[in-house]
Amino acid sequence: MTIDLPTKIVPVIIIDNPETAKPLGEILLEENLPVAEVTLRTPAALQSLEIMAGLEGLTVGAGTAITKEQAEAAYHAGSKFIVSPALHCEVIEYCQRADVPVIPGIATPSEIAQAMRYGLNLLKFFPAEALGGASALKAITSVYPEIGIMPTGGITPANVGEYLSLPCVRACGGSWMVPRDLLQQERFDEIRALVREAATLSSAT
Ligand code: 3PG
Repeated sequence: MTIDLPTKIVPVIIIDNPETAKPLGEILLEENLPVAEVTLRTPAALQSLEIMAGLEGLTVGAGTAITKEQAEAAYHAGSKFIVSPALHCEVIEYCQRADVPVIPGIATPSEIAQAMRYGLNLLKFFPAEALGGASALKAITSVYPEIGIMPTGGITPANVGEYLSLPCVRACGGSWMVPRDLLQQERFDEIRALVREAATLSSAT
């Protein structure tokens, strides 16, 4: 099962305090960036994911899923898609059994080949900038025209356009519009401005 992401930019979010999940979700909806990848890296992640998944119109997925148990918990919390940093086979196999879209990470052509054996056609190129950026992604995917990519890792407003102009790129992931420290400090006005800018970049392509 695959997913049509509603936006070209997917906020990758680390939440430390579940009380910030609802106001953040409302900002994403109000500023027209109605998607969130909540990373399973904090004790607050699952509860936050569940709160955000309860907001109508917001497509919420889980990120950093590296075990089957994490994927299962995220699915039951309302996750509409599951993202992994690598080809975690048990996560892929669980998601395919549960019929929830899974977007695993790849970094090489060999890993694309492995993902294709699962019938997957949307993959995360991670960590995108450290792997050589848009030019590396263009070269790697030139031989796999049927594969869609969501690059993530080091993407900013300054380089997102390079990725979005590639035919393989369905959406770009990034944390720049919801910086962890701003969310911890509940600086929602600053987050709103960053989200608004990201939404403008997302709809410009
Ligand atoms: C991820 O979880 O996909 C990355 O950590 C996000 O990368 P970024 O923080 O460089 O945007």
